[in-house]
Amino acid sequence: MSYDKYYSEWIKNPLLFWDKKAKDISWIETYKETLYKSNNFYEWFHQGKLNTCYNCLDRHVENGKGEKVAIFYDSPLTNTKKKITYNNLLKKVSSLAASLNNLGVKKGDTVILYMPMIPEVIISMLACARIGAIHSVVFGGFAAEELASRISDVLPKIIISASCGLEPKRIINYKEILDKALSLSSHKPLKQIIYQRNQKFSELNMENDLSWHEFIDSSSSMKCVPVDSNEPLYILHTSGTTGIPKGIVRTNGGHAVALLNSMKMTYDISEDEVFWAASDVGWVVGHSYIVYAPLLLGCSTVLYEGKPVGTPDAGQFWRVISEYKVKTMFTAPTAIRAIKKEDADGRELKKYDLSNLKYIFLAGERADPESIKWTMEMTKKPVIDHWWQTETGWSIAGNFPQFGLFEIILGSTGKAAPGFQVKVLNDEGIELAPENMGNLAIKLPLPPGCSSAIWNDRDRFYEAYLKKFDGYYYTSDAGIIDKNGYISVMSRTDDIINCAGHRLSTGSIEEILTQHKDIAECAVVGINNELKGQVPIGLIVLNNSSINLEEKKVVKETINLVREKLGPVASYKKSLIVDNLPKTRSGKILRSTISKILNKEDYKVPATIEDINTLDLIKSLKL
Ligand code: COA
Ligand code: AMP
Repeated sequence: MSYDKYYSEWIKNPLLFWDKKAKDISWIETYKETLYKSNNFYEWFHQGKLNTCYNCLDRHVENGKGEKVAIFYDSPLTNTKKKITYNNLLKKVSSLAASLNNLGVKKGDTVILYMPMIPEVIISMLACARIGAIHSVVFGGFAAEELASRISDVLPKIIISASCGLEPKRIINYKEILDKALSLSSHKPLKQIIYQRNQKFSELNMENDLSWHEFIDSSSSMKCVPVDSNEPLYILHTSGTTGIPKGIVRTNGGHAVALLNSMKMTYDISEDEVFWAASDVGWVVGHSYIVYAPLLLGCSTVLYEGKPVGTPDAGQFWRVISEYKVKTMFTAPTAIRAIKKEDADGRELKKYDLSNLKYIFLAGERADPESIKWTMEMTKKPVIDHWWQTETGWSIAGNFPQFGLFEIILGSTGKAAPGFQVKVLNDEGIELAPENMGNLAIKLPLPPGCSSAIWNDRDRFYEAYLKKFDGYYYTSDAGIIDKNGYISVMSRTDDIINCAGHRLSTGSIEEILTQHKDIAECAVVGINNELKGQVPIGLIVLNNSSINLEEKKVVKETINLVREKLGPVASYKKSLIVDNLPKTRSGKILRSTISKILNKEDYKVPATIEDINTLDLIKSLKL
């Protein structure tokens, strides 16, 4: 069937389409309604009961697939390789679930996972799903304060962590960061369970610390708890436009149906093949495509603890693909840029047999055409850019090999995935004709798997996504759809920037900078960066009483402050001291004009500017 036919089948009868897809999931109780609407909120597979862990593990084992590899764990950082079968994974998950349950963790409780890329993070996610507890994974590159803010939001009954995480040049002391976060948060979990890694042992000296190895009773097991389709499976925080991260809530039923469908529809994978998402479990891509989707399908997934370059070389991605016979891989354009920079002529790449590899998918940020071209030339494989958000959990647009690929147009993220009706609207909500740039919006209802709630703040979801355009989900991305339906995602419409495929709120960095005692005000903007797409820089105005301070010292302090409060992942390496910031007459800082000037892009002088000379100041800045 062609893409067009498939898409039109969906659009003619979306409920029937998703009903058919839902048959691939094992339900404990069938849902009463495929789609239930109450006010602005939709629930897919209303009142159905299932268990996501059962669908990821038990049913494959029951179907005789227990000896198949579920996870290929590959860690060049520790020289470790492991194959974990479905039988083995089920046993470990079931024991952890039973042990957690014995501690008192039950359906609806929350559990924070602050863990590196080791199999135990997947085991922990699935153990929570087995119990019906809600996990919330926190990415390792965040600082203690960010972890503390998530602890305060999620109020976990238990935190599972490890003694350390590994970066190429240093060991990250997770336990120390966790201890600090707990000292900052008024919420105290019942227990902290710490997985001790050989690279660093931690003293379990805090009240309620427990060692993972001593805590788990490996002879115990636990059955899957039935969970309502619309009860949360997990919470994953992402940057909002304020300093408070948004806890995106993903529910069980729609997630299972949508992700399982996407494995075939979007990635052309069958259960006897190997899929690899070179991401981190701390991000949505890791949740969906390292863990849940491959396991829902029953294929093999790769968990890679390493970097595209430097662990130890630029050939590691190709080694992993060749070693595990990966058919489809998925990464961020920044990773490709890092590899291309070190291995432009493909010397490393040519060492490996890529004959099993059929497709390379990219997402997370705008893919620059040069990187796509280089990868296609070097690998002779199609490179497919597809558009994603934490909120949607799976790709909004792409190119669908299952139907035969349509032409790859560089700079475009392909056509809308069946399930999504994407439109370009002007600021008044009027649909624009093809080829016009505007707000990318998705017609409601969003398909299964997409979030429709922010943890602890139901109104914030409506305010952030549904209020702006009646009947649409507002993506906060700007873009164009051409006359053939190709979507190009150009930029964010809010103050979020994309740094190495990570979403960063410039507003939250500003909030941190203004905590510095010498800073009167500041503006943080994204500066184009060859490797990371964009990196944040801060323009800071000092208090009158501080203008004679040594600039170098203040700049260093601001950089340290962001690293300490937000974390190294912010890649905040530069502050520039200025006398004034360009503002409108009403006092709004002209961030977008500042960013255009610094990035040497065309800009219009805003009619409402208060003092035009401040623009000359920005033009004179040396980055
Ligand atoms: N725990 C602790 N620290 C972490 C971390 C983690 N899990 N992940 C990153 N960091 C730290 C890094 O050590 C680095 O610290 P430094 O400033 O002391 O050097 C900082 O955060 C920035 O990290 P990163 O953005 O990874 O930059 P890098 O220069 O180390 O590596 C790339 C550059 C391109 C190799 C890397 O960004 C990369 O692999 N990107 C792919 C991103 C991706 O997969 N995104 C998922 C979306 S699909
Ligand atoms: P995140 O929620 O962290 O996955 O970030 C989502 C944001 O990343 C989107 O809103 C886009 O701005 C950007 N993004 C994701 N995929 C793409 C893509 N393929 N092309 C351009 N931008 C993308």
